[in-house]
Amino acid sequence: MILILGASSFIGRHLFRAYGPARAIGTYCGRPVADGRFFDATRMRLADVVPRDAAVSHAVLCFAEPKIDACKADRQRSDALNVRAAIAAIDELLDRGITPVFLSTEYVFDGRRGGYTEEDPPNPTTVYGGQKLEVERHLARRTADFVVLRLAKVFSVDPEEETILSGWCRQLRDGETIDAATDQVFSPIEVRDVVAAVEAVIRRNLRGVFHLATPEAWSRLGMLRLLMERLGMEGRVIPCRLEDLRFLDHRPRDLSLDPAKLLGATGLTFRDVRSGCEEFAQRAHALSR
Ligand SMILES: NC(=O)c1ccc[n+]([C@@H]2O[C@H](COP(=O)([O-])OP(=O)(O)OC[C@H]3O[C@@H](n4cnc5c(N)ncnc54)[C@H](OP(=O)(O)O)[C@@H]3O)[C@@H](O)[C@H]2O)c1
Repeated sequence: MILILGASSFIGRHLFRAYGPARAIGTYCGRPVADGRFFDATRMRLADVVPRDAAVSHAVLCFAEPKIDACKADRQRSDALNVRAAIAAIDELLDRGITPVFLSTEYVFDGRRGGYTEEDPPNPTTVYGGQKLEVERHLARRTADFVVLRLAKVFSVDPEEETILSGWCRQLRDGETIDAATDQVFSPIEVRDVVAAVEAVIRRNLRGVFHLATPEAWSRLGMLRLLMERLGMEGRVIPCRLEDLRFLDHRPRDLSLDPAKLLGATGLTFRDVRSGCEEFAQRAHALSR
C-alpha cells in the first residue's frame, strides 16, 4: 500500500487512478477526490488520516504550492506549505518507517547551463526552487531512506486537462497573441511517464535523487511551433526573450535535465515531446468533430 499526499493534484490524480484505492490511500485538501481522505498538511498530522497500523511502504508527497510567482507573492503562506508542512509530514513518515518519495523540481537549478545531472550543484534563483531544495536538504540530513524525483515541466496529451499544451491550444483557438521565449529551455515530460517512473521507483525499492524529464531539450517557442504544426493551426506568436516577460520571480533560462540515471535504474523509456504533441493534436481534433 502507498500513500499519496495530494491525490487531488494534477500528478496525484493520475497516480491515484493508476494505483486505485485498493493499493493506495489518497488525500485531498480543498478539492475532494473519490475515495480520498481530507488532509490539511498545514494543520493536521498524518496520524489523523492514516492509522498507525496501516501497511504503508511509501508516501508520495504531491502537495505543494507549485506556482512560481504565487510562492514569491506570499512567502509566508508558501513556506508554510512547501517547507514546514512538507518537513513535518516527512518527519512523521520517517518515524513510522515509511519511505518518502518527494516530488521536487527542475527549479532547484539556476538555468545557466542546462542538461543537469544529479551530480550538479543546485542553485535556485526562485523562492519556489529554494523551498524545494530546503526540503531535499532536510531529507538528506535525516536519512538515506528517501527518494527525490526532480520533475521537469509535466504535460498531458488530454486536451481537457489544464496543462501547457491545452493552454496554448485554447489561446490559438481564441486568436490570442502568444509570447514565447526563445531562450527558455526545458525538457517536458508526459504525466503518464511520471506515473510509470513513480511506480518503477517504488517497485524496485530505489533510493536517492533522480531527474524525471525527457532526454531532449526544447525551447518554449520550439515546442509551441511543433504543437501548431501538429494541430494544423496558425497563430499570432511573438518570439521574445525571458527578460521581456514580466514575471514576479526570476525565471531561469535553461532548466533541461538529464534523466539517464533514472532511465538506467528503471529500464524505462519516455515518450518524446513530438509524439506527445501528435497524440494531443489527434485527441483535440477528435473532440472538435
Ligand atoms: N506540474 C508540474 O509541471 C510539476 C513540475 C515539477 C514539480 N512538480 C511538483 O509535483 C507536485 C504536484 O504538482 P501538481 O502540478 O500536480 O500540483 P497541483 O495540481 O497544483 O496540486 C497541488 C496539490 O496540493 C494540495 N494542497 C494545497 N494546499 C494543501 C494543504 N494545506 N494541505 C494538503 N494539501 C494541500 C492540493 O490539494 P487540493 O487541490 O485538494 O486543495 C493539490 O493536491 C508538487 O509538489 C509540485 O511542486 C510539478
